[in-house]
Amino acid sequence: MKIVITAGPTREHIDPVRFISNRSTGKMGFAIAASAIAHGHQVTLIAGPVSLATPEGALRIDVISALDMLDAVRCELPSADVLIMSAAVADWRPKEASTTKLKKSTMAPTIELLPNPDILLTLKPSKENRLFVGFAAETGDPLAEAKRKLTAKGLDMMVANDVSRPDAGFAVDTNLVTLLYPNAPAEHLPLLDKRQVADEIITRIEKLHNELNIMISSSSSRNPCNASNLTARLS
Ligand code: C5P
Repeated sequence: MKIVITAGPTREHIDPVRFISNRSTGKMGFAIAASAIAHGHQVTLIAGPVSLATPEGALRIDVISALDMLDAVRCELPSADVLIMSAAVADWRPKEASTTKLKKSTMAPTIELLPNPDILLTLKPSKENRLFVGFAAETGDPLAEAKRKLTAKGLDMMVANDVSRPDAGFAVDTNLVTLLYPNAPAEHLPLLDKRQVADEIITRIEKLHNELNIMISSSSSRNPCNASNLTARLS
């Protein structure tokens, strides 16, 4: 399969030196990319700003903002069998980003925010027979919220985790997840290393792909995604 994986946070710039972002480090998405490659799949890893080495064999596209990430996913989707959105996409961006550093003044600036487009929802009309997998990083009641998003975003699988735990979610090497499906019982995995969680996710995706009898594209031709704000490299 060709699997497109997003990972890490996005940054929404206020000015050249300031931005809005979140605590995502990209560890879960990079572990999924490494696992998918180990399972013999072709991987495109669309990464927000993270300090992680590219898994060997992945095509990596670096992006900064949610809008950049949407462009990159839109570009890669036509040749993909699976989209895994493990990125923590910023929900809002400043309405205007200053091209020069804002001066410190006695008055704190008021920053007007606009909602970012939801990448999964935006690309839902182009889903066709592709598998879409989402992540729900929640505090409070992760399963109820994850189930709601699974349905709203039309996903084939949702990976839910409670990011208020110290041993799960952002910036740690372990994760405690529940896998949710539209028409099958939830699967609660034990606390595992992120790479083990990644292996479980990839195995489930392979099973879903087989069950749905989705045609595996034999073409390896790639889209000419030459957006100037994207950098691609093959490690
Ligand atoms: O942020 P939220 O909890 O809605 O994220 C759930 C899923 O939706 C995640 O897989 C995330 O990557 C994706 N998402 C997205 N576009 C956004 C926000 C989230 O595709 N703007």
